Amino acid sequence: MVKHDLVILGAGPGGYIAAIRAAQLGMDVACIEKEKALGGTCLRIGCIPSKALLDSSEAWREVSSGGLKAHGVKVGGVELDLKTMMKRKARVVSALTTGVAGLFKKNKVTRYTGHGRIAGAGKVVVETADGKEEIEAEHILIATGSCCAELPGVELDHDRIGTSTEALSYQAVPESLIVIGAGFIGLELGSVWARLGAKVTVLEYLDRILPGVDLELANAMRKILAKQGLSFQLGVKVTGAKVVGDACEVTVDGGDPVTAERVLLAVGRKPVTDDIGLSTVGIEVDSRGRIPVDEHLKTGADGVYAIGDVIEGPMLAHKAEEEGIACVERIATGYGHVNYGVIPGIVYTHPEVAAVGKTEEELKEAGVEFRKGTFPFIANGRARALGETDGMVKILADAGTDRVLGVHIIGPRAGDLIAEAAAAMEYGATSEDIARTCHAHPTLSEVVKEAALAVSGRALHL
Ligand code: NAI
Repeated sequence: MVKHDLVILGAGPGGYIAAIRAAQLGMDVACIEKEKALGGTCLRIGCIPSKALLDSSEAWREVSSGGLKAHGVKVGGVELDLKTMMKRKARVVSALTTGVAGLFKKNKVTRYTGHGRIAGAGKVVVETADGKEEIEAEHILIATGSCCAELPGVELDHDRIGTSTEALSYQAVPESLIVIGAGFIGLELGSVWARLGAKVTVLEYLDRILPGVDLELANAMRKILAKQGLSFQLGVKVTGAKVVGDACEVTVDGGDPVTAERVLLAVGRKPVTDDIGLSTVGIEVDSRGRIPVDEHLKTGADGVYAIGDVIEGPMLAHKAEEEGIACVERIATGYGHVNYGVIPGIVYTHPEVAAVGKTEEELKEAGVEFRKGTFPFIANGRARALGETDGMVKILADAGTDRVLGVHIIGPRAGDLIAEAAAAMEYGATSEDIARTCHAHPTLSEVVKEAALAVSGRALHL
């Protein structure tokens, strides 16, 4: 029987990064993935294809809505070629998934294509179309990720009523689309189809959008998205959805049904822990289907670890990556750590929303005294030159020590700008540290510096 030092179930960002890092550390690593393409949901049917469509649809919106006119660029005969847009998306995905396969080869990671199942201590079975192969493992790492959560009453036909997977591949722009859930997925994919011409209605159970995001920013973003044509119905509990003739009918608690050509269900994701042999090593999942782990990402079973969407915490690719690295470093060296206080989150709407650390609401609830500095993009030279002036940076710093506790951004390339804030927080920076760091002019990053200055009332351009 083949034996490996480490066998990883799942080749998403958590699993494949862990495999590469473990190989770098000298382990004999195997990674089992049931899909032919490596990279998991993120690369195949999540982050990457959605960003490809977000960038393409934004280019369409910019040109077709006459956004270039202000630059003195007149464009005529603009046409949407959805087929080419989808082909480009597929090319972006395949370049990256084949890239992961190349990285596995380079790092001598053994790849098994099939369904992996734990079969007792130190044993894993890989099931393929050709049969079963049993392999031995000194350590087992579960990185099987998550799938779309369903909602009772919503009859998914995975065509007209579908999840993000279908919404990444509509063959024509729907005339109307109902999005259930105003979270990350609902707003990103809702934006794509609204830009391409669909009448998008977002139904959200809460009285706000983007749960978990700082409320001031979430409210500002709702107004920006409404201006872009997304219509929001908040405080609406969806109770069902089905195809009725040519339309999809969505029923809501205490209100009239709403109809549309298509429905996108985006009410969260759930861990994939079924049928991976957890009971053979005595692992029980919690009430939300997650695998309990200790601070070293170790499950209750000896030699079995879990990372990413199958355990507690935000379901984000980069969180899974950090855990994958920490987990295998811990196995190989005895040390490994994830700083859960500094995990950025980004919503790739236009403009983007990005955040790291605590929200105002969280600080108030915890009774932490803080000072707040905000600065708008409209007062920034580069944002003006770009014609991207919506949004602001908000920095929250401890009232006593001035240590940065949270940074929240709506604005152009907010997802890239947040990296500075994450690095600053990782080093325990104060708002004064950011304010005294030289930021190149003219750049969008000066908005971060100005917000840091604003914490002590010293913003220069306000
Ligand atoms: P989510 O948890 O972000 O949002 C789901 C929304 O659905 C919530 O606002 C919830 O209140 C609402 N909802 C639940 N039941 C409802 C009902 N019956 N009627 C109406 N509304 C209802 O989930 P989402 O957007 O599906 O994303 C799933 C995960 O994927 C998240 O953890 C997210 O972090 C991750 N993700 C991250 C992205 C990124 O980093 N840019 C992009 C896409 C997803």
